Formats: sequence, C-alpha cells, structure tokens
Amino acid sequence: MANIDKHGQIDFLRVTEQAALSASKWVGKGKKDEADDAACQAMRNALNSMDLQATIVIGEGERDEAPMLYIGESLGSGEGPEVQIAVDPLEGTNLCANGAPNAISVLAAAIEGEGWLMHAPDTYMDKLVVGRECASVIDITLPPRVNVRLMAQALGKDVDEMIIGVLDRPRHDSLIAELREAGCRVHLVPDGDLSVAIAALDPEAGIDGLMGIGGAPEGVLTAVAVMCTGGGMQARLKFRNNEEKERAVHMMDGDPERVLMTSDLARGNVVFSATGITSGDLLKGVRFKRGYAQTESIVMRSATGQIRRIETVHQDLPDA
Ligand code: FBP
Repeated sequence: MANIDKHGQIDFLRVTEQAALSASKWVGKGKKDEADDAACQAMRNALNSMDLQATIVIGEGERDEAPMLYIGESLGSGEGPEVQIAVDPLEGTNLCANGAPNAISVLAAAIEGEGWLMHAPDTYMDKLVVGRECASVIDITLPPRVNVRLMAQALGKDVDEMIIGVLDRPRHDSLIAELREAGCRVHLVPDGDLSVAIAALDPEAGIDGLMGIGGAPEGVLTAVAVMCTGGGMQARLKFRNNEEKERAVHMMDGDPERVLMTSDLARGNVVFSATGITSGDLLKGVRFKRGYAQTESIVMRSATGQIRRIETVHQDLPDA
C-alpha cells in the first residue's frame, strides 16, 4: 500500500492512530495487558500493511519476552525504504486501564543511512527535557534548583512561575522537595513521563520542563521529538543492578553512565508520531461519537522542523 506522502516522507500517522483507536476500547476497564495487546496488534498490522523494510530497535522487549513488536522484529511488506522503528504502542498502560490522563501511542523512525536511533537498554534514565528557549542553558550535572533558575532566566520569568513535570515516585522525593524549596511549581504525574516531556517542548502546553528518572526507551522516543522541535535534552542511564549495566556496556560505546546529549540518543533524518488515547498534557484522547471517533495526533519531522497537530475523524472503526 502507498505510504509515502507528497513530500516523499513515510506516513506513520495512521500507525499511531490505529493503535490509539484499538487501545481506547480498553480505557478505564482496569485491564492494562488487554489494552497493551490491542495497541500492539493494531500497530503491527498497520506497519505490516506499509511498503517498508522496518526493523524494531525499541519495542515491547526482547524476542523471548514479547510476542510482537520485539526488538529485532522485521515489519512491513519487505519493499520500500529501510527504517529503524522505536515504538511505545501504549505509553501509560496504568493510565489507560484507570482512564487517567496522558495515555498515548507513540512511534519514532529513522531512515536507514540518513538517521539513527540509540538501541537503548531496557533500564532507567535520568532526564532533563526543555523547550527551545532553554535548550542552551541546561546542565544535568548541576543541581535541579540551579537548572530551574537558569531556565527561568532564559524564559524571562520568576522561578515561582515555572512548572516542572516529575513522575510521582519515592525516588523523586528529594528532587520534588528541592524544586519546591526553590519556589518552583511541580506537576506530579502518576505515569507517562514521555507525554509530559513532549508537552514541555510545546510553548503552549504550560509545562516548562521534565526532570527525573523514567524509562530509557521512552527517553529515546523523547529525544526524537526534541530533535524535531529544537528543544534540549540531557540524560544519564540509571541501572537497577550490575546485569543491566553489563548489558548496556555491550550495547553502546563509551562509559554507559556518561551524560547523554540528544545526539547520543537520536540523529539525522527522524520522524515522530503520537496519538492521544486519554486526554492529557499533550493531546486530546480518542472521542467516540455516533458511529465515528475522533483522534488528535502530533507528527513531527527533523528534516523540515514541521510540527503538525492533526484531528482525524475515523468512520472506519477497527473491530474491538
Ligand atoms: P508503561 O506504559 O510501560 O506502563 O510505562 C509508564 C511509565 O510511567 C513511563 O512513562 C515511565 O518512563 C516509566 O513507566 C517509569 O517506570 P516506573 O513505573 O518503573 O517508575
């Protein structure tokens, strides 16, 4: 099937839309695995219907632990461009199961030979993500209170006018306390640091940055959006044990605990697509109407710097 748009770019919007529509049938039903399976199946079917030679570099896990969208899986018709794909078919499985804000479906891709995505180990990553105006002032090795002050200066506002997104986890108790002590407002989210990070790249979203530790795969997807928007990101892998660290040593060059800049996570010609499942900081969720559904997505390309927000009306709804 044709999947190259008039600019000669691959159209991945349909892929995240189909995953979001399928997962949305499970919103609020308390069944995160069923929601994740529905999103994965829909994403896989959509990718397989495209003229691509795609390889999953970030997916649902290793081949032996994920039935589909596993790392190394080949997808697409086998014709057409070679692409590396990073997916999170359902980012925020608990959010979807609980009907809470910020569940999204996400895909990032790099055209083989033109772009590159880090093959991130499945571990944690400390992240500092900011929009374009703060990109040149951040330094993840500085204390959070210093970064937030530098960011406030760059944005021309007071620290007490800043809002920083942080995952609500006990590991962030001291980060949250330090930000509050500095006068900053903290936007605590139960899950979904990817959604909040992308929102921090949008000057209209009302979030000035993301700080703290979340998943490393989500970090690579974030970096693609950072590249497309001209924002800033610095990160450090955080390992839960030696085994994770050993794996990282084999997967990447250099010190696995070094500071990673955006270009260490993604490079060159990359594209990003995300569709809302539940409404949140970044996107509206799937809304069912009489006989049709509406989705909101964001699609970005590093080559052009174009950022599109797309509302789609779907009259051909996938089966539940
Ligand atoms: P899932 O969609 O896989 O449940 O991930 C949700 C999430 O909150 C991510 O946004 C975040 O990066 C990661 O989990 C944080 O991991 P943990 O829940 O172990 O702190």
